[in-house]
Amino acid sequence: MTRYRYYTATTLDGFLADDDHSLSWLFKQDIDENGPGNTTAFLAEVGAQVMGSSTYTWVLEHDRDWLPEIPTFVFTHRELEAADDHVSFVAGAPSDHRATLESAAAGLDVWVMGGGGLAAEFAGAGMLDEVVVSIAPVTLGSGKPLFGGAYDLELKDCARNRDFVVARYDVRGPLTDS
Ligand SMILES: NC(=O)c1ccc[n+]([C@@H]2O[C@H](COP(=O)([O-])OP(=O)(O)OC[C@H]3O[C@@H](n4cnc5c(N)ncnc54)[C@H](OP(=O)(O)O)[C@@H]3O)[C@@H](O)[C@H]2O)c1
Repeated sequence: MTRYRYYTATTLDGFLADDDHSLSWLFKQDIDENGPGNTTAFLAEVGAQVMGSSTYTWVLEHDRDWLPEIPTFVFTHRELEAADDHVSFVAGAPSDHRATLESAAAGLDVWVMGGGGLAAEFAGAGMLDEVVVSIAPVTLGSGKPLFGGAYDLELKDCARNRDFVVARYDVRGPLTDS
């Protein structure tokens, strides 16, 4: 069964990027590319990816390696440059696209790449099963938030990869008091 997995790096205070969309705080960290939480192992399990338009714009401008050769769905209300044939643009509720996403993933998982608002939209639609975060030893004070909603999660695994704590959570559902 296709799982929806939000896999990302974050600052300790819960930001994906600074106010100017910079990831310089991330790329200065030490990481073992073959260690816990590594991208190669994760990519072997995903058949499609989704992202918001800011993330897509960042990828286009900085590092197209983040557009692997899998069906990629960019959520936007605008007309953006299609970087490749495997990139398409969608808008609206994640649930409107569920059948398309799962068909594209072909039995593998869907990578919810971010940002945090889109990840929360997926959670709100009941389409977020897992959150995997690599937490960097840095705080920014402000920036683009890791998540846009209030949810209960359950810690399933935790490991160290040099500078990072890699934590894997199941998403339980909207935050409750108990
Ligand atoms: N640390 C990491 O590993 C990591 C991972 C992912 C992202 N990032 C960075 O984090 C930042 C995230 O930026 P962000 O917070 O602005 O989030 P984003 O999700 O990348 O972009 C948000 C934009 O996506 C579009 N969008 C979102 N939901 C939509 C929907 N349901 N239908 C249609 N369009 C929708 C809207 O823009 P329009 O409609 O105007 O196009 C919205 O303003 C970026 O700088 C990115 O590079 C970092």
